[in-house]
Amino acid sequence: MRILFATAEASPYSKVGGLADVAASLPKALQRLGHEIRVVTPLFRRPGETGPEIDGEELNLPTTWVGKELRVSVRQTTSGRVPVYLVDHPPYFQRPAVYGEQDDLDRYLFFCQVVLELPKALGWQPDILHGHDWHAAALAFGLRNKAWSDAFYRPTASVMTIHNLRYRGPHNLVDMLCQAILYADVISTVSPTYAQEILTPEYGEGLHTLLGLRRDRLFGILNGIDYEEFDPATDPLIPAHYDASTPEKKAFNKAALQERGSLALDPSVPLVGMISRLTEQKGFDLVEQVIESYLESGRFQFFLLATGEKRYEAFFQELPRRYPGRAAVFLAFDAALAQFIYAGSDFFLMPSRIEPCGLGQMISLRYGAIPIVRRTGGLADTIQDCHLDLSTGNGFSFTEYTDWALREAIERALAAYQQQDAWRSLVVRAMNQDFSWHASARKYVEMYQAALVGRS
Ligand code: GLC
Repeated sequence: MRILFATAEASPYSKVGGLADVAASLPKALQRLGHEIRVVTPLFRRPGETGPEIDGEELNLPTTWVGKELRVSVRQTTSGRVPVYLVDHPPYFQRPAVYGEQDDLDRYLFFCQVVLELPKALGWQPDILHGHDWHAAALAFGLRNKAWSDAFYRPTASVMTIHNLRYRGPHNLVDMLCQAILYADVISTVSPTYAQEILTPEYGEGLHTLLGLRRDRLFGILNGIDYEEFDPATDPLIPAHYDASTPEKKAFNKAALQERGSLALDPSVPLVGMISRLTEQKGFDLVEQVIESYLESGRFQFFLLATGEKRYEAFFQELPRRYPGRAAVFLAFDAALAQFIYAGSDFFLMPSRIEPCGLGQMISLRYGAIPIVRRTGGLADTIQDCHLDLSTGNGFSFTEYTDWALREAIERALAAYQQQDAWRSLVVRAMNQDFSWHASARKYVEMYQAALVGRS
């Protein structure tokens, strides 16, 4: 199958959240299954910056935009295994911000237009045009519109993946995602549970009725993570390497992490890590309600790496001063420190109110940091609550979005940490789980096949 992936974020070119990781790792997995996949994404640069080195050819695509004829440079890079096309249009993309600019709607409509014209310019007819989130949502309707007048586009099916229904673009009178929900051949989201949740008023963000109309074309496929990139046995960003046969070596990483965060160098106190965006969706209201009592009593140390809403930043940045040696807070985006936190923490906290999939809990399992999560979306699909004697399960979870429910899960987790042998087996079991793309990529292929029914 020939697949064209259109995404606003793709590692290593740009990254705001998990979409960038998915856009980098899922294509590789699809390619491994024998499919021909190409990715198209904007080329973001700071004004005055030359941007990344790009090895491939440059294409000058003629297009018309708001009544003006212009040529858009699309630069192809072949340095990775998957060909990536970077739309290099400085008026819209020579800016540091991927999102949040006043003209986001224009920027991404323009992007979609270029994406639609690219296959014809390349003489490469994809079977599947796969757009991700609202930024690429205009593709579904655009494709059908084009196919109406141009036979080249007729056999291509469109797929729309929703990574987070809450993000819908800057303009509440123009909602591309609604269009895509109606026009895409299939719609997917990033976990089976979230696919069910978005059909309810509680999680549907006002679109549950519309989504309900397409429920027979709605799929929920769990994301995977790149097991080569996230591997504690080889990760160049962590101080000590280890695998499931040597989990005790985590202790070295824990000590180094404690040092990095100016935490007390005590191996026996549990270390709870958190890497997140400081938004209400990620459960920070709950963390605010419980964290101080635990830091006060010194029952665990807390290491937070996050950026986001100012009201949370103000609260969390005070913690290290108020609880010296017990809390480390880095308000930054730092991929290297993130790996270090996974490797050095005993627990990984993700009490999200909404979590379409979540990648952090899968990475933390791989690094032997036991997740404490709220049972929602992808967290419900990946984390099974541990039995009291720790003989089964891979983490600790709670359902009600309340501080007491979170406390109850933390209490069980802290008690488990004291049972040395059972704890070691739990860490080994967590590290041996498989959340690589292998199984999920196959499900994407099945979904693509379903999208193609009726197109050829
Ligand atoms: C969004 C979602 C997150 C998901 C990621 C990748 O960031 O909020 O849950 O893991 O997309 O699909």
